[in-house]
Amino acid sequence: MVASTASGEREGWSSRSAFILAAVGAAVGLGNVWRFPTLAGENGGGAFVLFYVACVFLLGLPLVISEIFLGRTGQDDAVGSIRKVAEKSGVSKRWSAFGIMGVIAAFLIVSFYSVVAGWVLYYAGVMGADFISAVLAGDPFRGALMGESQDAIQGRMGDLFANPVLLLSMHLAFMGVTLFIVARGIGSGIEAAATILMPMFFVLLIAITIYGAFVGDMGDALAFLFTPDWSKLTPQVMNTALGQALFSLSLGVAGLITYGSYIKGSSGLGPTSITIAFADTGVALLSGLMIFPIVFAVGLDPAAGPTLVFQTLPFAFQTMPAGALIGFLFFVLILVAAVTSSISLLEVPTAWGIGEMGWSRRKSSLVFGGGAFLIGIACLLGYNLWSDVRLLSFWPLFAELDILDTIDGFTGKVMLPLGAFFTAIFVGWKADRKLVEQMTGISGFWLAVWRFSIAWLCPLAVGTILITGLFPGILGD
Ligand code: TRP
Repeated sequence: MVASTASGEREGWSSRSAFILAAVGAAVGLGNVWRFPTLAGENGGGAFVLFYVACVFLLGLPLVISEIFLGRTGQDDAVGSIRKVAEKSGVSKRWSAFGIMGVIAAFLIVSFYSVVAGWVLYYAGVMGADFISAVLAGDPFRGALMGESQDAIQGRMGDLFANPVLLLSMHLAFMGVTLFIVARGIGSGIEAAATILMPMFFVLLIAITIYGAFVGDMGDALAFLFTPDWSKLTPQVMNTALGQALFSLSLGVAGLITYGSYIKGSSGLGPTSITIAFADTGVALLSGLMIFPIVFAVGLDPAAGPTLVFQTLPFAFQTMPAGALIGFLFFVLILVAAVTSSISLLEVPTAWGIGEMGWSRRKSSLVFGGGAFLIGIACLLGYNLWSDVRLLSFWPLFAELDILDTIDGFTGKVMLPLGAFFTAIFVGWKADRKLVEQMTGISGFWLAVWRFSIAWLCPLAVGTILITGLFPGILGD
């Protein structure tokens, strides 16, 4: 069933560039500015980064094309789109089951994504207040959080985690904004948000990177990010890199199927997808070049892990000129990136509710936004009141994890690669070849290259990360 607006038409992007902007907005998120630098730092830099880039172009890009193809052809929510392609290809409609898994995964991801974005919101608030007090004191270009010891700055994160009410307020605010935008629909909600926020994001990213190049240690950062020490490229590291490539490109959970379904006109999916992959990877690399010069200038540890941007950077901003201002802008930048991604995640189940259940957009976004909000509450309580809860205690891989990490781990290590695997098999082996050629606008040599990747490389590589991710023992430790 195709949902329609009052005028009888399904919603759509106003232009090809509007779609690209929204899709880049979906791709560029916490994955690029928070997770990528974290992982690059933890996994030793260069070799990880280069392997990551290879994954994006050899495996990620063909999957981007495939997901957009499914949505563009189906013109329906993720499940409906896969079903239509199955019908047109004369294969079982049951293939749409992997769409249902994607819808569930996107719903679960947005629930904890909003909690993490809530931390960013808190830090934006702290740094914003600090900057205002710097301005009021007549010293707008001073460092951040002056007079606070390194321990005190790092302690802020523990204080935040111990405070369920504060965590909840931030999560509520972020989810509220996400829900508000999605409820407004494709044109005046998601597209409008991307049109305003993405240019703002790029200006901030470039400005802070240039700042870092001047006051920080760009030489060390470049060496760290691009000099490969291949001995560091263990199977575990490769596994992490491929998983991160899928997450960062928003693959495997029907996000691009859903966004692709709002494309109206016909245009080649090749150039569109290449633009998305390049923009996403460019932003990840630039984020590294924004963060590490600052980290190295102060002699801090690049391998700090998930707390890198929350504990390491605010302290670095203390010693930097205009650190109060730049620190504030830095968290605003992450926040902006997070919003355009969280709306893409919430749009997946919302579109499903509209297309499959026949709900209004308002109702559907409320149901799923509200549901994700509740699951997010469980995630944030996992840091304090429910810190003993282990959701998957029977499963050694997840047995030690708190609630948020369990949902993150399960969606990222199981659902996302499974979704990508079935997408590859379905598009590579089941979808009608003529239909694929016609709807992607790809032919000749590049069609053969893309086919090879989607039919062989992707299933093999993604299947491997799925299995080695689930049974890390196979790789040895
Ligand atoms: N790609 C986003 C990021 O890097 C997260 C995201 C948005 C996502 N939509 C998605 C991840 C769909 C998987 C699937 O932060």
